[in-house]
Amino acid sequence: MQWAAQSGGASLNASPRWGQPLKRLLITVSILSFWIKPISAKGASVSVVPSPPYGRMGSNVTLTIHGFSEQALSYNWYRKTTEDSNKIISYSVPSRMQIPADIREKVYPNGFLLIPNLTLSDTELYIVQIVDSRGVIAVIAQGQLRVYDEVAKPNIAVNSTNNRENDSVFFTCSTENKEENILWFSNNQPLSLNERMSLSRNNQTLTILRVKREDTGSYQCQASNPISSNRSDPLTLTVIYGPSHIEIFPRPESGEIKLRFNDPLTLECQALSYPAAQYEWHVNDTLGSVYSGSSYIITSASWEHSGKYTCWTRNKVTNLSISEDIIINVIGESPGGAIIGIVSGVLAGLVFTATLIYVLFFRKTSQSCSDGSPNGTEEVSYASINFSTQKSCLVTQSPMSRDTIYSEIKKR
Ligand SMILES: *[C@@H]1O[C@H](CO)[C@@H](O)[C@H](O)[C@H]1NC(C)=O
Ligand SMILES: *[C@@H]1O[C@H](CO)[C@@H](O)[C@H](O)[C@H]1NC(C)=O
Ligand SMILES: *[C@@H]1O[C@H](CO)[C@@H](O)[C@H](O)[C@H]1NC(C)=O
Ligand SMILES: *[C@@H]1O[C@H](CO)[C@@H](O)[C@H](O)[C@H]1NC(C)=O
Ligand SMILES: *[C@@H]1O[C@H](CO)[C@@H](O)[C@H](O)[C@H]1NC(C)=O
Ligand SMILES: *[C@@H]1O[C@H](CO)[C@@H](O)[C@H](O)[C@H]1NC(C)=O
Ligand SMILES: *[C@@H]1O[C@H](CO)[C@@H](O)[C@H](O)[C@H]1NC(C)=O
Ligand SMILES: *[C@@H]1O[C@H](CO)[C@@H](O)[C@H](O)[C@H]1NC(C)=O
Repeated sequence: MQWAAQSGGASLNASPRWGQPLKRLLITVSILSFWIKPISAKGASVSVVPSPPYGRMGSNVTLTIHGFSEQALSYNWYRKTTEDSNKIISYSVPSRMQIPADIREKVYPNGFLLIPNLTLSDTELYIVQIVDSRGVIAVIAQGQLRVYDEVAKPNIAVNSTNNRENDSVFFTCSTENKEENILWFSNNQPLSLNERMSLSRNNQTLTILRVKREDTGSYQCQASNPISSNRSDPLTLTVIYGPSHIEIFPRPESGEIKLRFNDPLTLECQALSYPAAQYEWHVNDTLGSVYSGSSYIITSASWEHSGKYTCWTRNKVTNLSISEDIIINVIGESPGGAIIGIVSGVLAGLVFTATLIYVLFFRKTSQSCSDGSPNGTEEVSYASINFSTQKSCLVTQSPMSRDTIYSEIKKR
């Protein structure tokens, strides 16, 4: 109706005496139509539906009309309200003409409105008036268009990356646009909040109270709007802890390792710690020897290997240390089957010869793989027991200064 009124505007304006009452009549008809026929003849409600549902900056959207199937004479599109000043375009179906013709928006013969090259300011309520074949406004329908830009990469920050256990940390996610939704990720998985974690109302901050070692990992935030999403760079949270849960392997239930004579043994020490703990082995309460490294290797057990072995571990950053003991008891039998307890009891001629060879050969090299022996006499007697077996050797990563002699043991 309004479109009809406008297209006839020139003649109405030319005869002002007729124009005023007629205009008033038309407006009345418009208003009446609005109230009488807000829906289509079929009773289904008519609506404006953007396609695609959300506008993307720089691309096109078509505002489609849902629920109207009658023949229309014209379509009038408005933004925000149906005030004349808000009219975008009028389209006459019979003439297939739009007024104005030279604008960005285009109306299709079915009344749909194409808005190309969208900008954020195209976000608005759009209203269409459909004038039916009798020249009456049959329908006024509306729909909201929202236009979004691609989401820029959000920025993640934390107030402290190196934390002790029980410290609290505070992550922030900054986005370009406040309306973006924010989700948090930990190690590439959506973050499942535990009871110590909380998000601010808009998810812009993540607080972790009393961080635990299991909170260690990479954190990211993801900003999204209806058309796109973008994830921040990962940020690594480290939690300094330990050492704790120290364990020595093997660990028999009795707390004592019964090692058969000649058998090899590797003691392995583990503790939970970040940064990784440093390890030391002390034998017989440090009276003799200290070795660094988490493994203590006995290639072949002999009697002097019996004793108390202590793994001592320290975290350089927390400055904490803990230790754990294990008793090694070397047991065994002589080749003949009797339990060897007394060294002097088994001196046979063969062994005596072996002792001589040992003394002549090994004493010359002045190194051996036996440990804890302060003098050569004892070495000789050990060797006499078991010449045929390998000597025990320690594999150490970096022997401590006072034990330099043992660093050379490996060459055997
Ligand atoms: C967007 O609309 C413009 C102008 O009508 C047209 O040239 C272009 O092909 C359309 N692009 C798409 C992707 O529909
Ligand atoms: C799209 O709009 C922008 C500004 O909003 C303009 O610079 C650009 O030339 C337009 N592109 C087309 C294809 O109309
Ligand atoms: C994320 O945003 C950056 C710029 O901030 C952009 O270069 C990149 O293409 C975006 N990625 C995605 C998936 O949208
Ligand atoms: C952290 O707090 C808990 C509970 O208050 C306490 O048991 C634990 O020892 C604390 N840990 C550290 C490393 O301070
Ligand atoms: C980081 O933020 C948390 C929570 O606000 C606070 O308890 C903690 O002291 C902050 N840490 C640093 C290093 O500022
Ligand atoms: C906040 O994050 C939760 C999931 O942790 C998500 O369900 C919710 O939609 C997010 N809210 C906003 C406003 O981003
Ligand atoms: C530890 O002490 C015991 C008893 O004093 C001794 O028999 C053993 O040889 C010592 N062990 C080592 C490896 O020094
Ligand atoms: C760690 O302990 C050593 C002595 O054991 C001390 O000299 C050092 O200052 C301590 N470091 C810290 C950070 O407490």
